[in-house]
Amino acid sequence: MSSILPGQPQRVLSGMRPTGRLHLGHYHGVLKNWLRLQAEYECLFFVADWHALTTHYDEPHVIEENVWDMVTDWLAVGVDPANAILFIQSHIPQHAELHVLLSMITPLSWLERVPTYKDQQIKLKDKDLSTYGFLGYPLLQSADILIYRAGLVPVGEDQVAHVEVTREIARRFNYLYGREPDYENMAESAIGKLGKKAAKLYRELRTAYLERGDGGALETARALLDKQKSITLGDRERLFGYLEGGGRVILSQPDALLTAASKMPGLDGQKMSKSYGNVIGLREAPEEVARKIRTMPTDPARVHRTDPGDPDKCPVWQFHLVYSGDAVREWVQQGCRSASIGCLECKQPVIDAVLAELRPIRERAAALAEDPTLVKNIVSDGCRKARDIAEDTMVDVRRSMGLGYS
Ligand code: TRP
Ligand code: SF4
Repeated sequence: MSSILPGQPQRVLSGMRPTGRLHLGHYHGVLKNWLRLQAEYECLFFVADWHALTTHYDEPHVIEENVWDMVTDWLAVGVDPANAILFIQSHIPQHAELHVLLSMITPLSWLERVPTYKDQQIKLKDKDLSTYGFLGYPLLQSADILIYRAGLVPVGEDQVAHVEVTREIARRFNYLYGREPDYENMAESAIGKLGKKAAKLYRELRTAYLERGDGGALETARALLDKQKSITLGDRERLFGYLEGGGRVILSQPDALLTAASKMPGLDGQKMSKSYGNVIGLREAPEEVARKIRTMPTDPARVHRTDPGDPDKCPVWQFHLVYSGDAVREWVQQGCRSASIGCLECKQPVIDAVLAELRPIRERAAALAEDPTLVKNIVSDGCRKARDIAEDTMVDVRRSMGLGYS
C-alpha cells in the first residue's frame, strides 16, 4: 500500500551496486524483471556507486570500470533508455544532501536493527565495517528511493528490510515536517472544497481508518481523492496526509516489489555468484561457456556411463528447468534414470540454449564497447533527467526543514 501523490503514475526505482560485468544470475534474477517493468511503468535504474564504497572503500580504483561494464550489460540485455532513466548515484549530489537531512531524524536504533547490518559484518569479516557510512547504508538507500517519490522498488528478499525502513523514515519525516501551523484548519477547509457528497464520504472513510484501522477505507478514500480533478496540489497533499492523521505527504511511502528468487543456479548448483567462482558471464566467449557447462558436476552416482542417475541430485537438471521445454525434460528424466543417455549428451541442449540466449547480448555488448561515448551519453542524459526530479523534491524538503531561505 503506497501513498503516492495523486495523479502520479507509479514510479519504479531500483539500484545495483557496480560489481562489474554481469552474469546469468543477474540476467534471470534481476534484469529480465527490469525489462518487464520498463514496458509498464516509468522506471529509473541507477548505479549505486556510493553504496559500493560503504563496503569497498579500500578499493576505489575498481569502481569506474565496473560502472561502465555494468551499464553496458544493462543496455546489452535490452534495458532501453527510451523507456527507463539510467543514471549514476554519485552524479546526483542531491542524494547525499537528502541523506544528511534524513540522518537528523533517524534514530540510531532503526539502523542498528536492520538485519543486513550485522549479517554483512559477519559475512565480510575481513573488512572493518564498523563505520558510520556502513551503518547508514539503508538510510542512503532511503534517500535514493524517497528523492524520486518512487512507488515501487523491485528488490530481492535481503533488501525488503531496507524498503521497510524507508517507509518508516517517510512517515516520520511527514509527521515532523508536514504539519503547517494551521494544518487542521487548512485540511478542514480543503474538505469543504470537495463538494458535499465527497466531503461527507471522505470524513466517514477517514474516521473508519483512524478509529478502526480499516485499511480498505483508506484505499477507498485515496481513490476518491484521485478522482477529484479540481482541487489544488497543496490541498490534495493535505487531504492525503490528513487521511492518515498526520500532515502533508512530502515524501511518499514506497512498496517493495519482491523479485522472485532466480531459478538460475550456478555451475555447481549453489547460488550463482562471482565469489563462488560458479558463474557464466553474459559476455563470455562461446567456447568458454560450452567448456564450463561440459565440466559441470553431475549426479555423483553416475560414475560410469552405465550407472543410472537422479536429476534431482544434479545441477544440470536445474539448468534444464530454466532452458528446456517439456519434451527435452522428459528425455532427460527417462534417459538419466535408465542410463540410456550420457551426461555430455544431456548437457548439449543446455549448451545450445545458453549460447543462443547469450549471442545477441554478447553482440550488442561488443557494439557498445566499441562506442564508449554512446554509453556515456545515455548515462549523462539519464543523469540530467534524474537530477531534475531529485531537485524538485529537494526544494520541497529544504523548505519543509526550514532551509528554504536564500
Ligand atoms: N542496496 C541495493 C543492493 O545491494 C542497491 C540499492 C541502492 C538500491 N539503493 C537502492 C536498490 C535503491 C533499490 C533502491 O542490491
Ligand atoms: Fe545430470 Fe543429465 Fe547426467 Fe542425469 S544425465 S546426471 S541429469 S547431466
